[in-house]
Amino acid sequence: MAQPVTVPGIRARKGGTPIVMVTAYDAPGAHIASDAGADVILVGDSLGMVVLGYDDTLQVTLDDMVHHTAAVARARPTPLVVADLPWLTYHLSPAETVRNAAALVRAGAQAVKLEGGARRVAMVDALLGAEIPVMGHLGLTPQSVHVMGGYRVQGQQAGTAAALVEDAAALAAAGCFAIVLEGVPAGVARLVTEAVPVPTVGIGAGPWCDGQVLVFHDVLGLEDRVLPRFVRRYGSLKSDAVAALSTFAADVRARRFPGEAESYHAPDGVVAEVKVALGLREAASRPA
Ligand code: KIV
Repeated sequence: MAQPVTVPGIRARKGGTPIVMVTAYDAPGAHIASDAGADVILVGDSLGMVVLGYDDTLQVTLDDMVHHTAAVARARPTPLVVADLPWLTYHLSPAETVRNAAALVRAGAQAVKLEGGARRVAMVDALLGAEIPVMGHLGLTPQSVHVMGGYRVQGQQAGTAAALVEDAAALAAAGCFAIVLEGVPAGVARLVTEAVPVPTVGIGAGPWCDGQVLVFHDVLGLEDRVLPRFVRRYGSLKSDAVAALSTFAADVRARRFPGEAESYHAPDGVVAEVKVALGLREAASRPA
């Protein structure tokens, strides 16, 4: 049986075999990610969009994250389970940040992820002080959608690219064991990756990161409405599911489902006995 993946194990993957991270939000998703050999399951706040039907991640609450983290953890997956701290759960004070992260740990997370650079160092410090491992997240940080003016690639100018490198260095120095780089030019992600001693995990950040992460529904084609440039689809589960349910619907309407083998049958004579008892006439054809 595969050994459970640990925080030190991920930290040690810097410059080695690329880390495979995928999101999951429930027990079946966790089983699939685990059976596929992923290294890290991220219970991402992308939950808000791909599962809960919101337009952005800002609607996701700590209770939502606790509920879904617990579902993932109950699958006892081999990959490391990292849960996102949702918006406004790590912005107000170090004490509140630790209390909120602890709720995720009690739900089964082995580490938490938060968005932002140098300005989050105090919170990272508080979390590590409470023995909670932290993954950073830089670049296109979806919780900053309004500040960024939309979901835009970040670090495209020399100044903003240099700021990304500095932010990554600050997070690594504060003790983050890995850093997600999202929506960053490949060359800039390479600079960041070479500048920090901890693994970078990219999404829309080119091939030079120490690992890659994709959203479960994107990689499997469960979400087929948008196809961002950085997504490669490895399945088409939405159309497979629509085809399967359409066939089920057609079978029900044509009385092809359920069949003999999919039905339970009373012992011989029972139905006839009930009919006699109730004074009913023998029905023509249907099996009991
Ligand atoms: O919430 C999420 O799914 C994420 C990944 C896109 C990195 O943060």
